[in-house]
Amino acid sequence: MIAIDGPSGTGKSSVSRKVAMELGARYIDTGATYRVATLQALRAGVDLTDPAAIDAATQVVPMTVGNDPTVPTVLLDGEDVTAEIRGDAVTQAVSAVSAVPELRVRVVELQRSLADVDGIAVVEGRDIGTAVFPQAAVKIYLTASPEARATRRHKQNLSAGMDSDYAAVLADVIRRDDLDSTRAASPLRPADDAQIVDTSDMTFEQVVADLVGRAQAAVEVTR
Ligand code: DC
Repeated sequence: MIAIDGPSGTGKSSVSRKVAMELGARYIDTGATYRVATLQALRAGVDLTDPAAIDAATQVVPMTVGNDPTVPTVLLDGEDVTAEIRGDAVTQAVSAVSAVPELRVRVVELQRSLADVDGIAVVEGRDIGTAVFPQAAVKIYLTASPEARATRRHKQNLSAGMDSDYAAVLADVIRRDDLDSTRAASPLRPADDAQIVDTSDMTFEQVVADLVGRAQAAVEVTR
């Protein structure tokens, strides 16, 4: 089990998927599980400032989250929502929804069952090394300066043909960091035994090679 945690904008998702491909591993995107729960809450029209209403609207979330790193598949009640969970509406709401402790208990249970696979699993999230799989063989905490993360997101927006204002993107990065790291339930922080990798000045390929090296080193030690 390889846990990869860290804030958004570090390249964590693309890096984790690629690392899983190189290791011939399964890939579990735990952020997707919170995003599907958020989509269901939004569709139910719940007031996002009311944790009890969020809890009630997400008692049962019939989701399927695939673990093949080459084909991300996310279904809600059989409907393919892979693109919709990455949209603005879900991205704006997900911090509030994922902060509800009762919901986290249910979602973490699901994540543990998703990661119950033969062979290596690369599990990506915010609290994998600290709360979901504290026994993971390798714990990586990917980080980068807020400015480096905002610059990456801003460039992605522009190349996707979207309007993008760097100052607004930076403010959003800082807002989400603050929400994720100050929430009471499983706040974003490195595990005591995590290896911290600062990607501010690294290319995508360098980060992938670095992580594959760390994973292989751990496999050698346990052989
Ligand atoms: O990685 P992401 O942007 O898809 O994550 C979406 C949200 O879910 C983000 O606000 C943090 C939260 N999250 C979490 O609290 N714990 C995780 N293990 C993964 C994501």
